[in-house]
Amino acid sequence: MTSKLIAPSVLAADFANLQRDIEMINNSNADWFHIDIMDGVFVPNISFGMPVLRDIAKHAKKTIDVHLMIVDPDRYIKTFAALGSNILTVHYEACTHLHRTLQAIKVEGMKAGVAINPHTNVNLLEDTIQDIDLVCIMSVNPGFGGQSFIENTYEKVKQLRKIIEKKGANTLIEIDGGVTNKNAKQLIDAGADVLVAGSFVFKSENPTKTIEQLKEIIKV
Ligand code: DX5
Ligand code: ZN
Repeated sequence: MTSKLIAPSVLAADFANLQRDIEMINNSNADWFHIDIMDGVFVPNISFGMPVLRDIAKHAKKTIDVHLMIVDPDRYIKTFAALGSNILTVHYEACTHLHRTLQAIKVEGMKAGVAINPHTNVNLLEDTIQDIDLVCIMSVNPGFGGQSFIENTYEKVKQLRKIIEKKGANTLIEIDGGVTNKNAKQLIDAGADVLVAGSFVFKSENPTKTIEQLKEIIKV
């Protein structure tokens, strides 16, 4: 049994105290850094870009999981590899030639992830699942932190778990959006491996403790 992971989303950090918040994650039980890159085109919001990621990577001592919410992500694969990304996730809805994009990510030495919007059916990944290291199931519409969790996500996790098993793939299932202590256990029970948590961690009184509590809840 592989251990289940927590990936705090830096989008919810205090950007005026970014190094402090990065060190908090370094010194916590968290497993990964989740980094949300938004271009204002694929999603109706702009987060931060390359210079900020470069500085995050200088201090981050854990896996850097980059979630690209951008159109035409192929243009930036090499750039994100050079910036220190360990996992690069592109959106299914933003890729015309997804298979090619996945290969290009791996050629750069990164793990390849695919994110799917709430309206995208998991069955669409059946033919590429063996090439995908991580599927990020969006449990909110991408673009903003602090939104509420979409309940249909549990069903999607179960369906995707079946596809992964049927195909004998090693793909991790990540859940992104509205994760709290209320849905964490049910997500893991449905078959999730990695939970992204932004607001729930950073808006809490004691983020380190909140991460610890989430890790405790998802222990299997
Ligand atoms: C949403 C982002 C998420 C977001 C999660 O578009 O991809 O990673 O930061 O934030 P919370 O946990 O606040 O929903
Ligand atoms: Zn994300």
